[in-house]
Amino acid sequence: MSINIAIDGPAGAGKSTIARAVAAELGFIYVDTGALYRTVALHAKRQGAETPEQIAACLNTADISLCFAEGTQHVLLCGEDVSGLIRTPEISMAASVVSALPAVRQYLFDLQLDMAKQNNVIMDGRDIGTVVLPHADLKIFLTASPQERARRRYLELSEKPDCPSMEQILEDIIKRDEADRNRVVSPLRQAEDAVLVDTTKMDQQQVIRHLLELCRERLGL
Ligand code: DC
Repeated sequence: MSINIAIDGPAGAGKSTIARAVAAELGFIYVDTGALYRTVALHAKRQGAETPEQIAACLNTADISLCFAEGTQHVLLCGEDVSGLIRTPEISMAASVVSALPAVRQYLFDLQLDMAKQNNVIMDGRDIGTVVLPHADLKIFLTASPQERARRRYLELSEKPDCPSMEQILEDIIKRDEADRNRVVSPLRQAEDAVLVDTTKMDQQQVIRHLLELCRERLGL
């Protein structure tokens, strides 16, 4: 039986950095499910699909798979590695839109479940503890204030040539939070049995240590 750890939380809470580090420490595979929604958004954009019907129809030609090289996840769209192309603000917003569609969630459900059945995984997303892996061995809900998340995202992007302003980033974060929390299917929410970790006043190393401690206490890892 594989061991499954679910990490959910809003955009910019640091899920991916933390999950990657904890997975490396435990020798688990880190699965970033947001990348799957981003890839659907990229495919829809390339196909010119805009309405829910068009987006659902274009799933027929979306051949999405994950592979791992030296512990790093790569996402393939029809054989092309699109891991870099999906990290733009435009695709972030588009991913939020496609992720509200039941057809898209259903389409990605099996892929996520297969990964978790076959491997010891730390899987991050919005509905991992509530919908995808309701029987996960450990569930974490990782969050931070919107202002702190915007500040972190700004620091991350500030090296890039067309870095948006802090105000713009905060506005996007609030907009995405609202969309992710209020959608009808699989909204972002904390599972009843998830451990809440608010990282607003913690640095990365403290969060990683805290999660490793939880894994030791609860799973004996
Ligand atoms: O974590 P991220 O920013 O890469 O996610 C991109 C979008 O996908 C985000 O708006 C929420 C959505 N998403 C989701 O609905 N369910 C998941 N399990 C992961 C991401």
